[in-house]
Amino acid sequence: MNFKMTEKQPLISLKNVSFVYPGGRQVLDAVNLEFFTGNRIGLMGPNGSGKTTLFHIIMGLLEPSSGSVKVFGKPAKTEKDFFPVRQKIGMLFQDPDDQLFSPTVIEDVAFGPLNLGKSRKEAMDIARRTLGFLGLSGFEDRITYRLSGGEKRLVSLATVLAMEPEVLLLDEPTNGLDEATKENIKSILSDIKLSFIVISHDLDFLYSTTDTIYFMKDGKIMTDGTVEIHEHVHAHPHGAIPHEHD
Ligand SMILES: Nc1ncnc2c1ncn2[C@@H]1O[C@H](COP(=O)(O)OP(=O)(O)OP(=O)(O)O)[C@@H](O)[C@H]1O
Ligand SMILES: [Mg+2]
Repeated sequence: MNFKMTEKQPLISLKNVSFVYPGGRQVLDAVNLEFFTGNRIGLMGPNGSGKTTLFHIIMGLLEPSSGSVKVFGKPAKTEKDFFPVRQKIGMLFQDPDDQLFSPTVIEDVAFGPLNLGKSRKEAMDIARRTLGFLGLSGFEDRITYRLSGGEKRLVSLATVLAMEPEVLLLDEPTNGLDEATKENIKSILSDIKLSFIVISHDLDFLYSTTDTIYFMKDGKIMTDGTVEIHEHVHAHPHGAIPHEHD
């Protein structure tokens, strides 16, 4: 029997992906990543180590300088290849101002569902439900650009969840949120039945929401054997992150 044939396909697969911004230094250096259904991965790494760049490559917003990207088992290279990818993978941008563009909150959250072909009424219902789920009932008619930083981040998350994606790529979702709101996001992510990759500098947050923590450094993702999650405390990417034991 050929076991290879029954192996699960990765949802996202990057092979030897390198990336250099025009005129810049090399940000990604032959990165390999296999991401499967049910995976909940945390991604850490110093500022400027290429975490956001990696997400943008997965979504087709940037094209690798070399290497290949497969999403849902299909090579993803052209704009057309990425249409279905963007319908099934919801990305929370690091900067909410890159995510939000409609005048009012409800229009922004309903935009995704409308784009997916829902009727106006359905889209509005989904948008209202999603806002309620995130504790944002009453925000429907607020002017998006006048929201506070934390409010913008939550509304951004609502725009992503409203599309009912299969996979989430979350770029620092708790950045700028107060403790209570952070706890709320933590419990939502802990309960959610979705596969996700979440970028964060908050080790405790990653520890409670993910199964595996990867560390990015020098253009590489350190995976197998480089990070262990210790049951009682923290992740140890080669001991690179200062940590304390109880
Ligand atoms: N449009 C761009 N043009 C040139 N260089 C860029 C561009 N965008 C990002 N960079 C550079 O690429 C490197 C990686 O950036 P990236 O945003 O992926 O890092 P990051 O790991 O997400 O960092 P942070 O933790 O600060 O969000 C940085 O050195 C950054 O200055
Ligand atoms: Mg970033």
